[in-house]
Amino acid sequence: MSYPELISREEIRKRVEELGQQITKDYAGEELVVVGVLKGSFVFCADLIRELNLPVHLEFMSVSSYEGTESTGNLKINLDISTNVEGKNVLLVEDIVDTGFTISTLSKLFKNKNPKSVKLATLLYKPARLEHKVDIDYLAFEIEDHFVIGYGLDFNGRFRELPYVGIYDGEV
Ligand code: IMP
Repeated sequence: MSYPELISREEIRKRVEELGQQITKDYAGEELVVVGVLKGSFVFCADLIRELNLPVHLEFMSVSSYEGTESTGNLKINLDISTNVEGKNVLLVEDIVDTGFTISTLSKLFKNKNPKSVKLATLLYKPARLEHKVDIDYLAFEIEDHFVIGYGLDFNGRFRELPYVGIYDGEV
């Protein structure tokens, strides 16, 4: 089995740097609560916050809506944030927007917490699979309908450690 490279380490590095500069500009003079959605976004989140020249408060949430490669349509919160985001700028950080279920559900949940603002940054977006309306504020890469792995993304818990985004071409 091979895992062909879709987006190289260098392409990711360059794009994350650009997004970091954009976010820094957009929130100039403000504080930011960055909420990484575990587990998939942990690598992107770690790289992205190091490109921010802002006061950042980092939180993580762990949710699951997936078994194998098909969405169950159920979002379970396994780990919640431990800070009050009322009146704060929240930036949700996702690995990939696929059907959009996870992030549209999380966005609604955060909007109900009376924050100053809620925005979304995602590494990847697969428009071919979208079923739920999602406003993406910061997108690194739009991709075709492939199941992808690496740079934090997994297939059944494997391949998160790959430094690039690859195509999983095994059986799904
Ligand atoms: P959504 O709720 O359908 O948008 O799914 C989002 C979640 O499904 C992501 O946060 C990933 O954890 C997982 N996911 C969707 N597509 C892929 C993929 O191609 N590779 C790895 N994980 C994926």
